Amino acid sequence: MRLTILGGGGFRVPLVYGALLGDRAEGRVTRVVLHDLDAGRLSAVARVLAEQAAGDPDAPEVTVTTDLDEALRGADFVFSAIRVGGLEGRAADERVALAQGVLGQETVGAGGIAYGLRTVPVAVDIARRVARLAPDAWVINFTNPAGLVTEAMSRHLGDRVIGICDSPVGLGRRIARVLGAHPGEAWIDYVGLNHLGWVRGLRVAGRDELPRLLADPDLLGSFEEGRLFGPQWLQSLGAVPNEYLHYYYFNRETVRAYQRAEKTRGAFLRDQQAGFYEEMRRPDAAALTAWDRTRAEREATYMAENRDAAGAGEREDDDLSGGYEKVALALMRAIARDERTTLILNVRNRGTLSVLDAEAVIEVPCLVDANGAHPVTVDPLPGHATGLVCAVKAVEREVLSAAESGSRTTAVKAFALHPLVDSVNVAHALLDGYTAVHPGLAYLT
Ligand code: G6P
Ligand code: MN
Repeated sequence: MRLTILGGGGFRVPLVYGALLGDRAEGRVTRVVLHDLDAGRLSAVARVLAEQAAGDPDAPEVTVTTDLDEALRGADFVFSAIRVGGLEGRAADERVALAQGVLGQETVGAGGIAYGLRTVPVAVDIARRVARLAPDAWVINFTNPAGLVTEAMSRHLGDRVIGICDSPVGLGRRIARVLGAHPGEAWIDYVGLNHLGWVRGLRVAGRDELPRLLADPDLLGSFEEGRLFGPQWLQSLGAVPNEYLHYYYFNRETVRAYQRAEKTRGAFLRDQQAGFYEEMRRPDAAALTAWDRTRAEREATYMAENRDAAGAGEREDDDLSGGYEKVALALMRAIARDERTTLILNVRNRGTLSVLDAEAVIEVPCLVDANGAHPVTVDPLPGHATGLVCAVKAVEREVLSAAESGSRTTAVKAFALHPLVDSVNVAHALLDGYTAVHPGLAYLT
């Protein structure tokens, strides 16, 4: 089986390759094609993969290319993990927004809109090429903002594109752990949009254990989301939100924390990763060791400003391993080998949330088999969550429509309608600021 990774020179590719190396079963991936626009990044990552594979005669063969069509032809699975504008673009997304006093996070608020506006046209081009050159391939989208980008691609690929994120899985795993349940045996009742969802229940052997957690402030204070949001707020909500909702429920505090930070997340990663790729140019560099050191530092500082603002302290060791590569591998195995499983994924709504239309991509537990991912039936969200989901989906739709028409007016509307942008004037200033720094937004006229 052949897997093509777009954004193949990206820093997290070795995580995926590590997961593939652990897969010995029949029908596993035997060939990996890495595609990237930047040959230097490709060779850096290829060096890390070669060290990972050392001494393993069954390791999947790796080839690299800068030719997109060549990468797509013959692919069974395509992982799309691109970053349009690079980390410099991410840092600019943050900077422009913070200068207007609003959040510039890569997936939430103004930053997510700017990132979406420059990513959607590229993702759509990829989707069209996949439909033409590899019509039977399954596309697994990691590219952020993942829900919006998956929806853009689904207009050309239908249900053959599936979006993934590790944050709901991590959340479910943490809740199961504090409740003493085995994550594999727990059913997590989670729904929303990507980075905008809530756990409303966790059933073990048919019994909902979440009320036991919500009733116990000590237990609530013993895991990441409990410390971020505070036990009282979780009790008020009667649910546990995805960590990205911290930007909504504590917006002032997170904006201030980001404004005070010496470097924003994007600027930190831009410099940190530049150091790694620079080091990889030295022929004697220990690639895997350097990669692993860089990865550990990246994991340890994830959402550091949010944890600072909440007084939540350091991340726990168990939370440092991410896990998105595990979700990707589990999804690929379920489809390729018809191994039925349940995963929280970004797929078209069909009728799952009745307040959204059938084409809206949502994040929801899905049954996965050889025919793809099928969302399960879930209870409706309460009013306040429905309100947020509908408002943000409406913004996503404006982004998709601006990307299609190239209309600045529509792009301004996307910013202005976002719940974390508090003025139409600010929306205009944001678009002006973003178009001044991003060549990828030149299509907006
Ligand atoms: C989480 C999110 C991803 C994001 C990742 C890395 O796993 O769900 O969407 O890409 O964190 O965040 P970072 O700030 O390290 O780039
Ligand atoms: Mn994510």
